[in-house]
Formats: sequence, structure tokens, C-alpha cells
Amino acid sequence: MNLPGIIALKSLTKRDYRVLVAIETGMRNSEFVEIDLIAKFAAITVSETERTLKSLHKMNLVHRWTGHFIGYELTIHGYDSLALNALYERNAIKSIGREKGVGKESKVFFALDGNDNEVVIKMHRVGFTSFHQVRKKRRYTANKRHISELYSSRLSAETEYNWIKLANSLSLPVPQAYSWNRHIISIELIDGIDLLKINRITDPSSLLDDILNFIDEAWNRGKFVHGDLSEHNIILNYEEKGIIIDFPQAVSSDLPEANELLKRDIYNILTYFRRKHGISLDENEIYKTITKAQ
Ligand SMILES: Nc1ncnc2c1ncn2[C@@H]1O[C@H](COP(=O)(O)OP(=O)(O)OP(=O)(O)O)[C@@H](O)[C@H]1O
Ligand SMILES: [Mg+2]
Repeated sequence: MNLPGIIALKSLTKRDYRVLVAIETGMRNSEFVEIDLIAKFAAITVSETERTLKSLHKMNLVHRWTGHFIGYELTIHGYDSLALNALYERNAIKSIGREKGVGKESKVFFALDGNDNEVVIKMHRVGFTSFHQVRKKRRYTANKRHISELYSSRLSAETEYNWIKLANSLSLPVPQAYSWNRHIISIELIDGIDLLKINRITDPSSLLDDILNFIDEAWNRGKFVHGDLSEHNIILNYEEKGIIIDFPQAVSSDLPEANELLKRDIYNILTYFRRKHGISLDENEIYKTITKAQ
């Protein structure tokens, strides 16, 4: 685990956090925040601000921009530090362990909460293309790309947290959602293996039933659709029960695109069970059963 935001947690002072928060505040209005403004928001002198920025810059938590003024923005690592610190302060995490998985748009770590329970934290990373691509784009467009990456990541975490909470309230087979700050959520650790990595299941029909039941309950009681359901986003626990994860794409069932997403989720699941376990069900029949039950 070598993320600067995590490493920095141990060494950051109260003043460092104040400066990071000051930059975050300034970034609501512009991509880069001037030193004077940072000093004002942090309520410290300009020279203290400069000293602090220098050390934050060394840790890769802020990015310096030199144009017609000198400005700073948070890097994703600076944003990580802020979110992790907030979760730490409210006892949602005490320490972070090794990496559990890297998705297309997130990093997932094992962690311990304040009571020593194992949890996982999912750090959302939306829109972070490779460093080179970002730099290239930046040269061409003095746009708000960076701020929107932090913002999109935050939005993605918030969306995921809210849908998991709703699923929790309906007792659907998903991890418990514990806490959320900025672009990071902490959720229950599911002890098991990603479905796509498993070759043999004792009772695939009953697993398929449970998953279709999840889709049905989410649609009819929760009024939402997962939107990215497949063997990639199901963990099989050691009782061979399927636990559904990865909710940032979920949408409310009354949105125009919801029905297409529902069809796709059903299609993905049935395709997996047909190819891998030789169970064939008619996707249109399932779709009709689920939607007419509304
Ligand atoms: N609650 C959990 N308990 C255990 N492992 C988890 C949990 N949540 C996520 N993981 C692991 O982390 C991986 C990535 O998580 P998730 O699918 O939520 O993120 P993602 O960024 O959307 O990934 P992808 O883009 O690959 O779908 C999962 O495939 C799984 O192995
Ligand atoms: Mg996933």
C-alpha cells in the first residue's frame, strides 16, 4: 500500500489539514487557489501557508500551478487524506491494511474500524485516466478537469453509499454500509470469493434464484436497479450465498434508462448461468415477471 494520502496520515499536523481544507474550499470557485486565499481560509499567515504548502507539495498532496498567479489544487492523494482523516475522527476506521482489489473506478482496502472490526474501504476514483493523458488534456484545455474528477468521485461514493443503505433497510444480500466521507465509503467486509473466479458451485440453481430475487426486490420494493450486475460484482461467501456489491451505477426505477438497465442486468446474469452452469432461463419471461409485479 503506497498511496501518498495514506502514508501522509501519520505525519500530517492540524495545520496541514487546515491548509488542505482551505484549498478544498477555494476549489469550489476555481481550479487553482491563490496562496492569499488559502491563508485567509486557513486563518494563518501567508508565510506559514507557504511553508505548509511546500511540505504538502513534497508529499504529493497538492499540485502547484504557475500561470498568471501561483495557485494550488488538491491531488487525489490530498483528497484521500482529508476523507480518511474524517473517517478516522468519527471512529469509522482506525488503521488501513493491504489492498483488496483495484477496480476500474476505485481502490478497495482492508481496514479496521475503531472497535477492531474488519471492514473494507472503497476509495472512488472516477475519471482518473492515466497521468500522461491528464497532463496532455490539461495542456490543451485550461478547464476544470481536476475539480470535476474529485467531485465525480465524491458523487460516485455518495450514490453508492445511499443505495447500499436503502438495500440494507430492505435486508437485501449486500454488505452493510457503515460510513461515508467525500469519495470514500466504509462497508462490511464480505468474506468470500468473487463469483467470476469460482468454477464449481454446489447448488447453482438456488444461487440464481437468490440473485433474481435480489433484482426483483430491488426493483419492486426498493424501486431501483443495480445497473452493473454480473459475476464481477457478486461475492460468493463461504455459505455459498451471493452478496451483491458495487452500486455507483444504480438508478431509480422511474428514470427513463432504468428498464434498459434492468434488462441488461437480467441478461448478464442469465448469460453467466447458461454458459458456466448450463442453466437456461428465458430473459424476456424474467423481465416480464419482474416488471409486471410492480
Ligand atoms: N464489501 C466487500 N468485501 C470484500 N471484498 C470487496 C468488497 N467490496 C469490494 N470488494 C472487492 O473489491 C473489488 C472491487 O470492488 P467493486 O466492484 O465495488 O469496485 P469497482 O471499482 O467498481 O470494480 P470494477 O470496476 O472492477 O467493477 C471487488 O471485485 C471485490 O473483490
Ligand atoms: Mg466491480
